[in-house]
Amino acid sequence: MTVTSINNKDQEENDRPKHIVVVMDGNGRWAKKRFMPRTAGHHAGVKSTRKIVEESVKNKIQALTLFAFSSENWKRPEQEVSSLMELFVSTLQSEINSLHKQNVRVRFIGEISAFSEKLQKKIKETKELTENNTGLQLNIAVNYGGRWDIAEACKSIVKKIQLGELQVCDIDAELIDEFVCLKQLPEPDLFIRTGGEMRISNFLIWQLAYTELYFTDVLWPDFKSEEFSAALNWYAGRQRRFGKTGEQVEPTQTQQV
Ligand code: IPE
Ligand code: IPE
Ligand code: MG
Repeated sequence: MTVTSINNKDQEENDRPKHIVVVMDGNGRWAKKRFMPRTAGHHAGVKSTRKIVEESVKNKIQALTLFAFSSENWKRPEQEVSSLMELFVSTLQSEINSLHKQNVRVRFIGEISAFSEKLQKKIKETKELTENNTGLQLNIAVNYGGRWDIAEACKSIVKKIQLGELQVCDIDAELIDEFVCLKQLPEPDLFIRTGGEMRISNFLIWQLAYTELYFTDVLWPDFKSEEFSAALNWYAGRQRRFGKTGEQVEPTQTQQV
């Protein structure tokens, strides 16, 4: 067997991200451009979310993590916040069966306890129904903040130290990895942010250390299959070096064994 055939397969695997994270931004501006209320933009955004989940299933992506509501989004006008909460409930209700049919396993990250009983119930139902699914792992970040995530990890570590289960000298990056959200998944390979802003906005700040960052001006309600493919193609052209040199990581294409 030649190294070429092994490497081609490896290369294909490397070219496809295992874990994609998305900041779905631009709903408000999409609506404003059409002289519509911001909430209309959020409703339109749900269609893109549905499409991108379907595309991720089709492309055999292992995990997709979507930023739906940040810990800072509570600062928005009360009416927008409450209409977003209603949209979350109705979307979970309308999508749950289709997600289950697609073998998607849905999980939530963030401080869920801040939500209404009704929303918490929907979240629980969605999680439980899809618990044993083996396809795409879909994580929805709601009332999530990267700084909150790290603070929670610190609390858990300190508790273990107090119980004598860990020592201060045990704390390193690998240990912290075990306590932040999404610990059971590969680190994010590809970060996509729509809407033209080039910032992280307190998303997975610990987990994004070596993630490839893709920004597009396309507003979230306009982000469909073609835009998703463009992001995947861009990713396939990245050389991920993780601190090494390009020569060290470039796979040998022609060597015989
Ligand atoms: C993202 O779109 C959706 C949420 C934050 C819930 P925005 O509502 O932030 O849209 P813009 O950035 O104002 O256009
Ligand atoms: C980030 O978008 C949060 C979500 C997409 C859910 P924002 O619109 O809240 O981010 P900023 O405020 O422009 O940084
Ligand atoms: Mg925004």
